Amino acid sequence: MGRKQVLSIPAVRNLAGLAAFLIILLNLFGNYLFGSLKYTAQRSLLKANLEPLNETLGFERIAVVSSGTSWRLHGLVEATEFTNLYIDVPSQPVWTDTEVDEFRGYRVHGRHGELGPGQARCWLGHLNIWRQMLLQKWSTALIMEDDADWDIAIKQQLLRVAPLIQEVTGATDWSSPYGNSWDLLWLGHCGDYIPLQLASFVDETLPGSPMYRENDGRFTEFPHQQRMVHMSVGPICTYAYALTASAASKLYQLSSSGMDKLITTHLREWCQEGFLKCVTVNPELFHHHKQAGEISSEIGVVEGWENRSAVDFTPNIRYSARCSSKKKRPAACQLEFDPV
Ligand SMILES: *[C@@H]1O[C@H](CO)[C@@H](O)[C@H](O)[C@H]1NC(C)=O
Ligand SMILES: *[C@@H]1O[C@H](CO)[C@@H](O)[C@H](O)[C@H]1NC(C)=O
Repeated sequence: MGRKQVLSIPAVRNLAGLAAFLIILLNLFGNYLFGSLKYTAQRSLLKANLEPLNETLGFERIAVVSSGTSWRLHGLVEATEFTNLYIDVPSQPVWTDTEVDEFRGYRVHGRHGELGPGQARCWLGHLNIWRQMLLQKWSTALIMEDDADWDIAIKQQLLRVAPLIQEVTGATDWSSPYGNSWDLLWLGHCGDYIPLQLASFVDETLPGSPMYRENDGRFTEFPHQQRMVHMSVGPICTYAYALTASAASKLYQLSSSGMDKLITTHLREWCQEGFLKCVTVNPELFHHHKQAGEISSEIGVVEGWENRSAVDFTPNIRYSARCSSKKKRPAACQLEFDPV
C-alpha cells in the first residue's frame, strides 16, 4: 500500500510523539495488556504490514492436496469454517499403477527406486498442485495436506510471524504480508533444528507445556511459548508449506519426470543446497491430525500399514481447529493415548 500524501513535519512529530507514548505505555503495561495494546501500537506505526490476514492467510490461495478420503476432507472443511479460512481442493487425476511406477522409476535401470507406490502418489499429489498453481497463475499459495490441523488462533499467529519472516529473509518490498524474499515457507512440519540465528516472540497461543513432541514420539524441551522464525536447517514433513510462483515453476520442472526419494527429503535437500530459500516457523503452525479409528497415513493406506489412532490427536497445537470445530468450543487434542 503506497502512501500517496506526503506528511508535514508537525504531523510526523505528532506521530512520533504518539508512537513514543504508546511505547512507554507498552513498557509499563505490556504484561497486562499483552496482545491487544501491543498490536494496536504496532499497527498504528506499521499500518501497511499489519492488516488483519484474510481468509487465505495472506497468500493468493490455499490449495489442498487431497485424494478425497472423506474423514480427512470433512474434518478439514469443518476446521476451515470454524477458523474462517477459504480453501481450494483441486481435483486430482486418477493415476494408474503404470504412471505411478514410471514416476518412481520402479525397476528402471539407474534409478534408486526408494519410493513405495503410496509415497509416489503423495509426490504426484503435490506435483499436481504445483501444476495448478502455474496454470492458474497464483503468485503465492499455501499448500496443505488434507489431514492438516492448526490452532484456532492461526490468523493472529501468522500475523505476528509475517514481519519476522520479512526480517529473517531481508525483505525489500513489504506490499505482501510475508515480503518478497523467500521461495518456500515451511509452516507445517514435524521438526526442524533450531539455529542460533533466529527471530522470535512470546506466543501465548502455543501449548502451555514447553515439551515439544518430536516426530518419533519423544519429547524435547523447547523455550517456553517462544515462536521462532529462522532459515530452514533440516525440516521434515510436508503438512503445509507456502510457495511462490517462481519456486513452484522450478520445482515442477525439476520433478515432473520422476523422483527417487520422498518429497520431504527432496524439499529439505533443495532448501539446504540453497536451490530454494526456505524459512521455518518453529514450533510448526500446522501439524497433521489423526482421527480416532482411522488409518492416519494416506501413504499407509496404500502401503498396507495398519496404524489406527485410538483418539483424535494433533500434537504441538494448543486448540486444534479440527477438535474445536467438532466440540464447538476451544478444544485441545494433544494426547495421543486416551488419558483414563
Ligand atoms: C489475501 O491476501 C493476499 C495477499 O495480499 C492476496 O493475494 C489474496 O488475493 C487475498 N485473498 C482474498 C480472498 O482476499
Ligand atoms: C505404521 O506401521 C508400519 C508397520 O505396520 C510401519 O512400517 C510404519 O512406519 C508405521 N507408520 C506410522 C506413521 O506409524
